[in-house]
Amino acid sequence: MADIDDIKEGKDFGVDVPVETKPFPVRGSNALDWGMQDRLARIFQKKSNNTVMLAFDHGYFQGPATGLERLDLTIRPLAEYTDVLMCTRGGLRATMPADIRKPVVLRCSGGMSVLTELSNELVAVDIEDAIRLNASAITTNVYVGAEYEHQSLANLVKLIDTGNRYGIPTMAVTGVGKDMARDQRYFSLATRICAELGAHIVKSYFIEEGFEKVVAGCPVPIVIAGGKKLPEMDALTMAYKAIDQGAHGVDMGRNIFQSDSPVGMIKAIRAIVHDGEKPEKAFELYEAEKASA
Ligand code: R5P
Repeated sequence: MADIDDIKEGKDFGVDVPVETKPFPVRGSNALDWGMQDRLARIFQKKSNNTVMLAFDHGYFQGPATGLERLDLTIRPLAEYTDVLMCTRGGLRATMPADIRKPVVLRCSGGMSVLTELSNELVAVDIEDAIRLNASAITTNVYVGAEYEHQSLANLVKLIDTGNRYGIPTMAVTGVGKDMARDQRYFSLATRICAELGAHIVKSYFIEEGFEKVVAGCPVPIVIAGGKKLPEMDALTMAYKAIDQGAHGVDMGRNIFQSDSPVGMIKAIRAIVHDGEKPEKAFELYEAEKASA
């Protein structure tokens, strides 16, 4: 039985010590609830407030894309080097062990393919299943200016509202339609719409002209997609410029798993994202890893 004397007189109230209040370090997240902040803190690493997400969700509209024919063979060995797994529930359950100890950003949209209209997506995961998988964030694409813009924004709103109910942040992915200009005006518009609708993270593309303005106009963290496979030095340079101009990380797929040294590439990307290394130094890390394999 508890000793009742013990609760009569507390002694150590530290009356002279003010209660510490610290702003939450993830951009735009100060007013969020504890669970939401906790999940964001799993994604954005303490060291840099940045994140390296490994994207391998391509199969949900592309089938077995190059490099992703066997997730168990190509992605599982990379898991230890990433901060976050960004994938579908099918890919996760079927190929990743649950003791992998990496936060998951769960692809929650689908319903189209490369053979049809990409913007014609629906919410393809119930929030209960995202909770069952212990997702640290949920994600859907938005296609501003595309044929199904309204539907993709409605998907985002639905995801944000259900995620908010359970303390799960939402990442909006800005998909770009075929005829859309990939310029500062377009990405400022698309990323800002996502943030104003309540997205907690926005995934977008790096652009050479005006990326800083895109970041400045978006009140939540932007992470960049890798896009099509580039020569390694070019991909590292893009990542460096993006971080230098205010991005809070990458959500990168093909430029990692299609590289001739995926481990070398993800290590090099980490050096840029978390240690602020220049592309030349990061490239040396990639080459050293490739040589040692
Ligand atoms: C975009 O809609 C999906 O999330 C992609 O599968 C992913 O962003 C592609 O990553 P990356 O362009 O780096 O291969």
